[in-house]
Amino acid sequence: MPTIKNVGVIGSGQMGGGIAQVAATAGLNTTVFDTSADAIARCQATHDKLLARAVEKERMTADEAKATKARLSYVTDFNALSGSDIAIEAVVEDSAVKAKVFAALDELLTADQILATNTSSISITEIAAATKRPERVIGMHFFYPVPVMKLVEVINGLATDKDVTQRVIDLAESMGKTALPANDRAGFVSNRVLMPMINEAFYAWMEGVAQPEHIDGIMKLGCNFPMGPLRLADFIGLDTCAHIMDVLAEGLNNDRYRPCPLLRQLVTAGRLGDKTGRGVFDHARA
Ligand code: CAA
Repeated sequence: MPTIKNVGVIGSGQMGGGIAQVAATAGLNTTVFDTSADAIARCQATHDKLLARAVEKERMTADEAKATKARLSYVTDFNALSGSDIAIEAVVEDSAVKAKVFAALDELLTADQILATNTSSISITEIAAATKRPERVIGMHFFYPVPVMKLVEVINGLATDKDVTQRVIDLAESMGKTALPANDRAGFVSNRVLMPMINEAFYAWMEGVAQPEHIDGIMKLGCNFPMGPLRLADFIGLDTCAHIMDVLAEGLNNDRYRPCPLLRQLVTAGRLGDKTGRGVFDHARA
């Protein structure tokens, strides 16, 4: 099988933008697609800023940054993805939206091209069912912030071809990541373990076991986490955390995974974390 040279990324938000940056830095021709011209422009501006920072920090030369930028194309025309050896979807975490994107990719790309999803919890088998090529559909779950985090969780759907899995593992490793396998159960491994811990931190807060800064301090200093679970929830987005808990509850058919009422309440109040300036903590800049 030929190695992957051309990568298409669908969605130019935090995850899609990060995946595209890492792919282009690894030497792959990368096309980032978004329906919104504003989102695409923000993605390009973020890449420019992060690549300039990498040069400043001497992690790459100015020539390497220039070559990386030259490998990146920013498009709002879906057809521009047609030359991708692999399309990596990183759109909103909504089964119906993903099904639409995969049906459209299935129409656009030739039969040997791979369709990957960066979903953090939705079943790969379900996403693959929106296509006529379930054997070429796979989960490729990156972590935020993508340029920094070393893991890609690789998830086969029921029908995923072994050769597709190997090509995706090789691709992740060529992007400087470690690829580790997980089976297609709700939340895979990462969110099956991480999200209930975050949810439990909300219960500890709600029940008055400790104040948020103490809950986080205990977990940081006692367990060596880089961020406490409540700070991490703000970083990921409280709406995303609550949504993933609901997906776990549905997928594992167990209400013990339902979001803590306090987590839900903050989401209802629009306190979503870093992205709105306030979540558990206040991130408003002076
Ligand atoms: N994009 C690119 N680079 C970033 C970044 C971003 N959004 N945020 C931080 N970085 C870089 C910084 O630029 C910095 O690099 P420099 O050396 O060039 O300055 C480096 O990361 C370290 O950052 P900081 O010095 O500012 O701060 P730090 O040492 O506290 O590290 C952190 C920040 C890497 C985010 C660290 O706190 C951490 O690892 N936190 C945990 C993150 C985590 O658990 N992520 C997984 C979330 S779960 C998920 O993604 C899965 C899901 O499905 C929900």
